[in-house]
Parts: sequence; structure tokens; C-alpha cells
Amino acid sequence: PIFTQDDFKKAAAYKAVEFVHSGMVLGLGTGSTARHAVDRIGDLLRQGKLKDIVGIPTSKKTYDQAVSLGIPLSDLDSHPVIDLAIDGADEVDPDLNLVKGRGGSLLREKMVECVCKKFIVIVDESKLVDFIGGSGLAMPVEVVPYCWKFTAVRLQNLFKDSGCVTKLRTVGENGEPYVTDNENYIVDLYFNKDIGDLKVASDRILRLAGVVEHGMFLDMATTVIVAGELGITIKDK
Ligand code: A5P
Repeated sequence: PIFTQDDFKKAAAYKAVEFVHSGMVLGLGTGSTARHAVDRIGDLLRQGKLKDIVGIPTSKKTYDQAVSLGIPLSDLDSHPVIDLAIDGADEVDPDLNLVKGRGGSLLREKMVECVCKKFIVIVDESKLVDFIGGSGLAMPVEVVPYCWKFTAVRLQNLFKDSGCVTKLRTVGENGEPYVTDNENYIVDLYFNKDIGDLKVASDRILRLAGVVEHGMFLDMATTVIVAGELGITIKDK
């Protein structure tokens, strides 16, 4: 059989949902991989195989999907302790550090996923990288719209030794800024060299006034489930 990338995403998602038990408070991820996990949770609830689940969605999109599936929802104010979160990622390094946010939902994802007891990341094998930040792909940073160009220049200057180039994320033909669920913008950072210590890079970005959050999820994933040609691999921290 010929498997598509979407088959792998679904396989990883279904595997992760095996870790969901009745009574759990669940962080519901965002993106084309997490979507399969949310669908699966909805199916199991409908079949009565799961009960008393409370979902904490990480985006408006996931909120809408979960509502359409009848998954009971809440938020961090009412449920500050989350048993398990399941979400995709754009990049996963060998230490299970992640880049997330190419789908734009990094802030709510990080708010939810940094307080969960267990965080399972689900990916197809194309997401595995040797090191994050240096793979030539975008590192998303959510910024306030006020003087975003100024913030983008400051971000670029922070990483000038790594050949950093910044680009405002846009939508549509007219290049309107992409607006996040929190009414912010996203500046994507591109590097042509390794950015060095990730924790140092993270702190430097977060110290810039105007930055809301960035897409590096360091030391957060407790498990990564990878699906690919050779089947499913489970990596634990
Ligand atoms: C959403 O902002 C992202 O963090 C996604 O979770 C991540 O981009 C993975 O998305 P896909 O599963 O669609 O690749």
C-alpha cells in the first residue's frame, strides 16, 4: 500500500489518543495532525468508550472543531491543571525540543502545553530535524501589531551572526498581515546558521518589548510519536 503524509499524521494521532482515559482534562492541539486526534476523541466520546472528558482548545479553529464534535470544553481559568495535551509540531530535534506555530497558534498552544502533566507530540517523519532553528525553515514569533517593523528589526539584530532575516506573515494576494487569535501579528525568522544555545536564544527573544511569544517549545514535550514508512516510533523524554 502507498501511504500518504496524511495517513502518517493520522496514525500518530490515533496512537496518541490511546493514552487518553475517561475523566481527563485534555489540551487539544491545532493543525492538520492534531485535527485527527480531536476527531478521534470525538468518535470515542460518541461511542461511549470515553467519558467525562474536558477539552481545553489551543485555538479558535480547534474550539470550533471540538464544538462540532460535541466535546465538552473549558479553559485554563477554570481548569488550570491539564492531564494530557496532544499536538503536532513543525520541527522536532533529537532532544524533543520543538518549533511550533507555522499554523499561527503558538501562544495558546504554549499557554496550555506548559502546564500539562504529559505532552504528547504527534508528527510524521518529515518533521524530524537534526537541530532546530538552523534548518532554513521559519521560526515564528508572535508580536504586537504596534510598530511591528521596529520589533522585526530588533529581532533581526539579535541574531545577525546567524544571518537572520525576518518576514511578516501575510495572507491573501494583497499581503494583508496574518492576524492571530489574540489579535497579534507573526514575524517569521529565518537563519542561515545555527543559532547556538536554544535557551539563550529563547530568553533573548522574550526579553524584547513588543514580542509576545515565540515558537520554540523547549523541554516541554514528554513524548513524541513519529509515524513513517517504517511504522510508529515512540520517543520518551
Ligand atoms: C499551529 O500553530 C502549529 O503549532 C501546529 O501545531 C504545527 O504547525 C503542526 O501543524 P501540522 O500538524 O499541520 O503540520
